[in-house]
Amino acid sequence: MRKIIFAGVITTLFSIVLLFQFSCAGEKTAKPLSQGEMIALGKYIVTTSGCDDCHTPKIFTENGPVFDTTRRFSGYPQGEVLPAIDMNMIGPGKWSMTDKHLGA
Ligand code: HEC
Repeated sequence: MRKIIFAGVITTLFSIVLLFQFSCAGEKTAKPLSQGEMIALGKYIVTTSGCDDCHTPKIFTENGPVFDTTRRFSGYPQGEVLPAIDMNMIGPGKWSMTDKHLGA
């Protein structure tokens, strides 16, 4: 019985050491990103995560809204008046509201 317990303890310790080695080995091989790589990664995240949807003003064409790329990520257009807010639409369990640019 003692031999079985001893073998179990040794196996567990060996497994922990082995797992620790693998996790540390992964950290050592990861090299820092260059500036160009960071810019490319940021561009990828911003593009695939839809940041423009809310943070870029829209131009309203006959085919629907398109991003105003001359004002990319500029937020809600300065000087454009917000529509009136129906306070009955705000509250727990009700819909959320936004403006036509999705930025306010
Ligand atoms: C669904 C709409 C929406 C999307 C999509 C969105 N945001 Fe936002 N973001 C907002 C709103 C609304 C706020 C303002 C929140 C507040 O002030 O409470 C905000 C705030 C921010 C702020 C803080 C700005 C400040 O002055 O404090 C940053 C930075 C930001 N967003 C970056 C991003 C990035 C990066 C992405 C894409 C990965 C993104 N957002 C996608 C709606 C959105």
